[in-house]
Amino acid sequence: MSTHAIEAVGLIKRYGDKEALAGVSFEVPRGAVCGLLGPNGAGKTTAVRILTTLTGADGGTATVAGLDVATRGGDVRARIGLAAQDATVDALLTGRENLIMIGELHHLGRRVAAARADELLEQFDLSDAGGRLAKTYSGGMRRRLDLAATLVARPEVLFLDEPTTGLDPRARNELWDVLDTLVADGTTILLTTQYLEEADRLADDIVVVDHGRVIARGDARALKRQVGGSQLFATPTDPGDLERVAAMIGDIAGAPPGIDVPSRLVQAPTDGGPLAVSRLADALGDAGIAVDDIGLRQPTLDDVFLTLTGEHIAEEQPQEVAR
Ligand SMILES: Nc1ncnc2c1ncn2[C@@H]1O[C@H](COP(=O)(O)OP(=O)(O)OP(=O)(O)O)[C@@H](O)[C@H]1O
Ligand SMILES: [Mg+2]
Repeated sequence: MSTHAIEAVGLIKRYGDKEALAGVSFEVPRGAVCGLLGPNGAGKTTAVRILTTLTGADGGTATVAGLDVATRGGDVRARIGLAAQDATVDALLTGRENLIMIGELHHLGRRVAAARADELLEQFDLSDAGGRLAKTYSGGMRRRLDLAATLVARPEVLFLDEPTTGLDPRARNELWDVLDTLVADGTTILLTTQYLEEADRLADDIVVVDHGRVIARGDARALKRQVGGSQLFATPTDPGDLERVAAMIGDIAGAPPGIDVPSRLVQAPTDGGPLAVSRLADALGDAGIAVDDIGLRQPTLDDVFLTLTGEHIAEEQPQEVAR
């Protein structure tokens, strides 16, 4: 049997003449966390829907928990959990009732289902809210209830489609902590995200998708290396100094600088390390140029995306919160 919890080979999915997936392949070892990272419309949800048997592929094959999703759908569904992009819990039931109902759907029996519900409410810090209708929950509570719902039957493989979209930073951090405990228990997780820091924070391996194709693959460190070193940057206090600062940074970094006028940010990739920063500080001091900020920063996954596609990933999207 496959040592991989998830294996996708050449997945193709068409909607009319739109190719949502144009041959996507990747695999996730058992117990690992894989981040499917890409902008709106990249094909992330489509991949998740195929892997969770909600829709069929037009080409390619996939196994989950060693089982073919096309021919062993029922067995696959018994081993996985899915937190879909839109909330799936019933708003007109309480949090506790939702979890009990799902347990009963999984044939746990009323008493076991109730015990499991209480255990999950506790784990997700929802014990106090367990008796309230889900429609009265905040977005963060709703996301936690969604995730709890996927865990009722203790799945081997967990699919999380943008688990933290729409959450504030604190709620996001709390959810990340919960995911850590699942990983520690050996659950395999495939999560999709548009948040660079989320893939970086959670995933062992990142698959970058764009327009239905895998455009890069690797851990965060390897992806960042593709951009070539750290960025030497400075933000002159006076926009009138931008050109002079750019000339200095270009000189010291030994690479052409980029200037972002609205944020007054000048930067260039460098191998120079911290020494480059002190040389820049000296040059600025000699020229009497004041800066608000100066330093060396690690490239982000957004820089990787920019290098690969010529476009930024939009970090914050306007989103509808399902009610
Ligand atoms: N049921 C459908 N009918 C027609 N087109 C679809 C359908 N589902 C997805 N698509 C199209 O397929 C492409 C990929 O969509 P998908 O939902 O997989 O993207 P995504 O990466 O999940 O995006 P987002 O970050 O916005 O959730 C998009 O162009 C989308 O419009
Ligand atoms: Mg999606």
